[in-house]
Amino acid sequence: MVTGSSEGIGRCYALDLARSGFNIVLASRSQDKLEKVQREIAGINHNLKVKVVPIDLANAADYSAITADKEVSDNLGIVINNAGQFLEGKFFEIAPEKLQSELRLNLNAVTLLSKYATNAYKRQLDLSINPDQEKFGLINLSSIASYLPIPNMSQNAGTKRYDCYFTRSIRDSLSKRNVDCLIVHPGVVTTGLVDNAVIPGSCLPEQTVAGSLA
Ligand SMILES: NC(=O)c1ccc[n+]([C@@H]2O[C@H](COP(=O)([O-])OP(=O)(O)OC[C@H]3O[C@@H](n4cnc5c(N)ncnc54)[C@H](OP(=O)(O)O)[C@@H]3O)[C@@H](O)[C@H]2O)c1
Repeated sequence: MVTGSSEGIGRCYALDLARSGFNIVLASRSQDKLEKVQREIAGINHNLKVKVVPIDLANAADYSAITADKEVSDNLGIVINNAGQFLEGKFFEIAPEKLQSELRLNLNAVTLLSKYATNAYKRQLDLSINPDQEKFGLINLSSIASYLPIPNMSQNAGTKRYDCYFTRSIRDSLSKRNVDCLIVHPGVVTTGLVDNAVIPGSCLPEQTVAGSLA
């Protein structure tokens, strides 16, 4: 399952997982863009099952559109909490509802979908649902912004720091339950998030993903 998989880094994660033979759940707000990625995956391997879930992870009352499908949770192997938002600007000028949206996406969705993943893995192990499944995975996306207080990206830097410490805090206990847990800190990556700017030193989404799925 990859959140924010309609474009950018998340799309690349989904395509790379498809190349490795995973069935995929694609989740983001835009059904049409997700269906385009679904067609790309069919071009890679038409035998894979691909489920498209249109959901606004910043505003949904709950995440049941993703979490309620028992067939998905009983076969979940890796969850990538990639969807993230980045508001640039002076803190005192940003509208509170925009701030809320960034907090809900970067904090709530990452935390609660990590919990969903770990509970689904535990259930599979406890009930021997997939006895051949030896390893599970959880990848959460932080940012290079998490390393520094950044004046015009204050809440992004803060939320991404949370994502880092949260993921590192659960990593040890999860490793004892056969879950590999990774926090990724991209630098500047040329995607829609940064208006597709090619900034010196930036890299492509494919390069970001290759390192973390190796
Ligand atoms: N690009 C960078 O330079 C950079 C640097 C550091 C960290 N990161 C992190 O890497 C991750 C991916 O970033 P990216 O650059 O690939 O971004 P992107 O190209 O803007 O893509 C963001 C993805 O998230 C989805 N999304 C956005 N808001 C959503 C919401 N409310 N609910 C559900 N899905 C939502 C978007 O799809 P829809 O529009 O269809 O919803 C899209 O698929 C983010 O967590 C970001 O913070 C990126």
